[in-house]
Amino acid sequence: MIKNPARYLVTSALPYANGPIHIGHLAGVYIPSDIYTRFLRSAGREVIHICGSDEHGVPITLKARNEGITPQEVVDRYHAINKKAFEDFGITFDIYSRTSSEIHYETASEFFRQLYDKDIFIEKSSNQYYDEEAACFLADRYITGTCPHCGNENAYGDQCEKCGTSLNATDLINPRSVISGSKPVMKETRHWFLPLDKYEGWLRQWILEDHTEWKSNVYGQCKSWLDAGLQPRAVSRDLDWGVPVPVEGAEGKVLYVWFDAPIGYISATRELTPEWEKYWKDPETKMVHFIGKDNIVFHCIIFPTMLRAEGSYILPDNVPANEFLNLENDKISTSRNWAVWLHEYLQNFPGQQDVLRYTLCANAPEAKDNDFTWKDFQARNNNELVAVLGNFVNRALVLTDKYFNGSVPARGATDEYDREVLSQISLLKEKVETALEGYRFREALKEAMNLARLGNKYLADTEPWKVIKNDPERVKTILNISLQITANLAIILDPFLPFSMERLREGINSNESRWSMAGSDSLLPEGHSINTPSLLFRKIEDDEIEREVKRLLQTKKDNEDNSSSASPAKENITFDDFSRLDIRTATITEAVKVPKTKKLLKLTLDTGIDHRTVVSGIAEYFEPEAIVGRQVALVINLAPREIKGIESQGMILMAEDKDGKLVFVQPSDRVTDGSEIR
Ligand code: MF3
Ligand code: ZN
Repeated sequence: MIKNPARYLVTSALPYANGPIHIGHLAGVYIPSDIYTRFLRSAGREVIHICGSDEHGVPITLKARNEGITPQEVVDRYHAINKKAFEDFGITFDIYSRTSSEIHYETASEFFRQLYDKDIFIEKSSNQYYDEEAACFLADRYITGTCPHCGNENAYGDQCEKCGTSLNATDLINPRSVISGSKPVMKETRHWFLPLDKYEGWLRQWILEDHTEWKSNVYGQCKSWLDAGLQPRAVSRDLDWGVPVPVEGAEGKVLYVWFDAPIGYISATRELTPEWEKYWKDPETKMVHFIGKDNIVFHCIIFPTMLRAEGSYILPDNVPANEFLNLENDKISTSRNWAVWLHEYLQNFPGQQDVLRYTLCANAPEAKDNDFTWKDFQARNNNELVAVLGNFVNRALVLTDKYFNGSVPARGATDEYDREVLSQISLLKEKVETALEGYRFREALKEAMNLARLGNKYLADTEPWKVIKNDPERVKTILNISLQITANLAIILDPFLPFSMERLREGINSNESRWSMAGSDSLLPEGHSINTPSLLFRKIEDDEIEREVKRLLQTKKDNEDNSSSASPAKENITFDDFSRLDIRTATITEAVKVPKTKKLLKLTLDTGIDHRTVVSGIAEYFEPEAIVGRQVALVINLAPREIKGIESQGMILMAEDKDGKLVFVQPSDRVTDGSEIR
């Protein structure tokens, strides 16, 4: 851990430019990184905050294909939308760049070339699916087919979204190319691999020994990757969208998106300043990556290995990754529209960015996944922002306005309670600072709010509105102290609530926001005039929250409606097509689980003709012992397929409803095995 760095380089994960930003992104990455950098700037440290759009990768090309536009058009759209959303919420990047820029192509190719020239990469050939009609190799996402586990006919080559199993494209039954619909063939292709295995010893030392201070969720994930053993990782792909692999004989190949995207931090810094090298190459620079937990391996293992292999770059000092935020007890999902989108929030709560910033920080998924609920949002606003912070500040300003015509009164003799309260200001400031430096943003916010709590309690205990009748001198002291607390809040809460604290500074007619000034008990001199106060926060009513909850319930209902109806009928086939199927009754004589799988059973069946082996994805629904002896319907002329090293010679007919419930299709009475079904 670097002590007293000369400067800070703060990066926030580059969001994919294929969809808008939601509260999960904000809570996980951009609220903490923004608080951190606002704090550092206010403390007078030299810091730059880097972000931009991640514009490569297969999902972007797929979206373009689905919408009949170019990938560039897709990323142009979302780059603009997301850049604006960040601005609207006061996320202050020094640059919001993008990976389709010229400078990024240059930087990423140079980086690859450096490693290539140093002979870091391994070149290897392997067989991959190829679409002969479209004349291109197919990324896993470009292949669909039947899931061997659940029978979903539209599983992707990397994952079946129905049963959640992650797949290899070669696992799919009856694979089809998304591009042409044709059946892909295997073809040899050559790629470059980063030999992570060779860096394992170094990584173990660097992370597990030298960075024991990293957050336990981050450290733990790194440790399990390292303990599992690292493999060489392909850093190129056969694709026509991305940074071309800058070596001869690599036509049609681009850098893997996770190779080029983190280099985007470097390109963005180059775009920002000609002095970029002092940020990236001087060991006095402290680099911090803000990310979500799904990015940990890339920022803690792969990118550092790339930087280390190149040799002239510094490594991250810390990677304070957050866990995930859920929404009303359900995983946030773009495809199910289960999210609170930033632009939508602003339409419904205009001017109330800080309320969301506050809720997302107070409830940030720092150590474990957390839940955002509208009820909690309302409660945080009404009970904390309005009742504590807003109430205190408003009373201090209104009373000063009323009793002293808006002029800061003199502080006369102080009693012990006054002095205790004054001394708390710098103590709380220290606590906030320590928590921020340790990336504990929830704790930092809590301590900062404790200053407002302190002020509130001070007013409630000293009751200046009663004292004014007999002892106006005493009220001067009380309000002077309350105003000093207010001026401190305007500095200490500024990184968290920048919009409201700016308004508060207008209210107290001050532009002091330097961190070094916080902790002082005399920020506002006697006689300084304040402005007519306006409310910082307003109560959020039940009906506003009900409206949001209703909208989510409707979303849930829409999703259920879409999935509860039976799937549409397939295209007609001829009787001839049908009669080519050979379906027979057969009896299960043996059933065992396929080792190391969750879903697969290996069955032996008596077909009346022979005994054969069938691998079936039903292990989650049936115990092997319970189905031995059962008579089923079996397709016996399906071409044999190898599944997990076992040749499967047929397919058992099952009925499956939309919820994934599986039942056998079986004769209503026992018949001789081998009876034809037609
Ligand atoms: N686009 C990635 C995501 O949203 C993050 C990329 S971070 C970078 O998960 F470092 F690669 F840029
Ligand atoms: Zn499946």
